[in-house]
Amino acid sequence: MNPPSLFSTLQIGPYQLKHRVVMAPLTRMRATRPGLAPRPLNADYYAQRATPGGLLIAEASPVVATGFGNPGVPGVYTEAQIAGWREVVDAVHAEGGIIFLQLWHVGRVSHSSFQPDGALPVAPSAVAIPSEFKAMTADGKVADYETPRALETSEVALMVEAYRQGARNALAAGFDGVEIHGANGYLVEQFLQSRSNLRTDQYGGSIDNRVRFLVEVTQAAIDVWGANRVGVRLSPYGIANGSGEADPMPLYSHAITSLDKLGLAYLHFIEPRSSGAGRADVNWQNVPSAMVLYRPLWSGVLISAGGFVGENAQSAIAEGHADAIAFGRYFISNPDLPRRLQRGYPLTPYNRATFYGGEEKGYTDYPAHDELAQA
Ligand code: FNR
Repeated sequence: MNPPSLFSTLQIGPYQLKHRVVMAPLTRMRATRPGLAPRPLNADYYAQRATPGGLLIAEASPVVATGFGNPGVPGVYTEAQIAGWREVVDAVHAEGGIIFLQLWHVGRVSHSSFQPDGALPVAPSAVAIPSEFKAMTADGKVADYETPRALETSEVALMVEAYRQGARNALAAGFDGVEIHGANGYLVEQFLQSRSNLRTDQYGGSIDNRVRFLVEVTQAAIDVWGANRVGVRLSPYGIANGSGEADPMPLYSHAITSLDKLGLAYLHFIEPRSSGAGRADVNWQNVPSAMVLYRPLWSGVLISAGGFVGENAQSAIAEGHADAIAFGRYFISNPDLPRRLQRGYPLTPYNRATFYGGEEKGYTDYPAHDELAQA
């Protein structure tokens, strides 16, 4: 039998993917203001990138008003947001696509200007992100990160409930599944890692305790969706937003082993070479590969992302390191990415200046290959 390729089918939970070119979750900061609801422009953008049997993971969306760290990010906790997302989902389904929503809370990667009543951001512990990293304020200015307020133990349970409600809202919007954002230095990862979690209750200290919040949030989503329509994204060895565990192997081995027992739709890695890809172009060599290191601990579907183009994506799949590849930056600039990769067409370079915020430019105006040929 031939080894699988990017264009073999793949079963993810109840869905049969027709290819393995997944769209990575991408914050684009183009929701309505005020309201932070998806709008028709966002539906166009996702529909452009939808293919029959192709999986899109919609951008990280806060499950509660305290969960924002960027302006113009869509939420998933109001009726208007659910209605906006329903239009996005309908547009993707009309193209035959499959779409999951990434559930988010930024924790300490926020600023009081985003918080209800101008309060401090909340986090596992009162530990600020180091000053070499800068926060974005609600009006788009640069500021130092503040020292967050540590969540009380009783508030952690409420936070798990916020994720549960976010999962319910995603279901109400018609999504096909949800992904827990456990990567890039945000709330879930702040609980996981020892530098941001100094708690002395059942959510801190031992690795088992630090993994507890991730497992509880994931279980809350499972309660709503069933395990086979819930995925989790992790970034072991990542350094985004002041994150980074000194010795990732024991922590992530335990986290992945714990998740493996739950029977999830998939596990999704960001390869360390692309950690922080949203802010700068980093592409380190000689760093460990998450998919290679942890695959032996994971019995389900594995998606990997970060620095993939055509060839290294094909070989990752053919060699069995991953089952599918998620593409971020090239999916921004190539709405027809699966077809381009399949045909070997050249890729349009992306323009970092239009990643975040704005309107059509750099969002829905990247042409498909065929349109380019006609131009
Ligand atoms: C990202 N990334 C990201 N990751 C995530 O889990 N949720 C998100 O909402 C975002 N948002 C986001 C916005 C932008 C503009 C970029 C460039 C990146 C990370 C992204 O999903 C992906 O892991 C990285 O971009 C690495 O993959 P590529 O770009 O090398 O294919």
